[in-house]
Parts: sequence; structure tokens; C-alpha cells
Amino acid sequence: MATTKTITISYKEFDNRDELEKNDKTLLLTAMEAAKNAYAPYSLFRVGAALLLESGAIVKGTNVENAAFPSGICAERSAISAAVSNYPDDKPVAIAIAALTENGLTEDPVTPCGNCRQVIAEEEFRNQNHVKIILAGRKKIIVIESIKSLLPLQFSKINLRSTPL
Ligand code: THU
Repeated sequence: MATTKTITISYKEFDNRDELEKNDKTLLLTAMEAAKNAYAPYSLFRVGAALLLESGAIVKGTNVENAAFPSGICAERSAISAAVSNYPDDKPVAIAIAALTENGLTEDPVTPCGNCRQVIAEEEFRNQNHVKIILAGRKKIIVIESIKSLLPLQFSKINLRSTPL
């Protein structure tokens, strides 16, 4: 017999960046700064990510596009790749994301694409901690405590095993 399961997610919305915790605001401003460095000549959609590590270090990432479109990379994965490459013993604890169009910061917050959600989920899984996600928009700011809310029923290392851990 089929049973219906329901998944609910909760997150916080803020009208103003000044209402954020100090660290979250700093991270958000760093993501906005990073977005200016994006290489996005094809979409003209410049995305910046700022990844806070457990040590307090902040690693920036931007989208880097390519004439061969699928070779481009998103800001979130740029930041995570840089962090893993340069701080292998550190753990991401939060990521802020901001996107710029020709009119400046997007009105609505931009949420990570499916590929980036999967990569953030891998970080949470391997480090066994939550990565707070801070999404910047002109109209509102969204704060989500874990990628689990954006990627329920996620595929992970556990699924690669034929027997449970
Ligand atoms: N992009 C990101 O960098 N992060 C996101 O969360 C959404 C999309 C980039 C990919 C591409 O360079 C451009 O935005 C348009 O999709």
C-alpha cells in the first residue's frame, strides 16, 4: 500500500541586510564583491559566492563561463573547489550567494542550481556539519540552515554501497 510522505522546509526571510547576524552580513557583502569578478560574457549574469570556513577564512568564487557553454562553472562550485584546494583541512560552515545583472543585485535571491546543491550536500555529508546558505536579493534575503532543505532525499555516498553502513 502506498503511503504519502510530506517534507516541509523552513527558512528565514529578512527585508534588510542590516537585520542579519554580523557574520552573515559580512559573508553576503563578500559574495556581492566577488560577483564583480565574474567572467560571464555570455549570460551577463554575474554570480559571486563567499564560503566561510570553520577557521574563519572566507573563500570567494565566481561563475566562469566558456564559449563551449557546458565547460563553464558556477560561483558556488568555484568557491568550493578553491576551498578544498587551498584549505583541505578546513570545513565550510556557510555560503553566501549574490548575482548581478545590468541593473545591479537581482531583486529576488538566486538559489544554487541542482549541480551546486549536490556539491554543497557532499561537503555537508563528508564533514558531518550544516552549511548555512545565505541568498542575497534587493527585495529580500533568505537564510537556510542546511542544504537538506534545498535537496531533500539526496543522493550520497551511502547510496553507492550495496549494504548499509
Ligand atoms: N550560475 C551560478 O554561478 N550560480 C547559480 O546558482 C546559478 C547560475 C551561473 C551559471 C552561468 O554562468 C550563469 O549563472 C547563468 O546561468
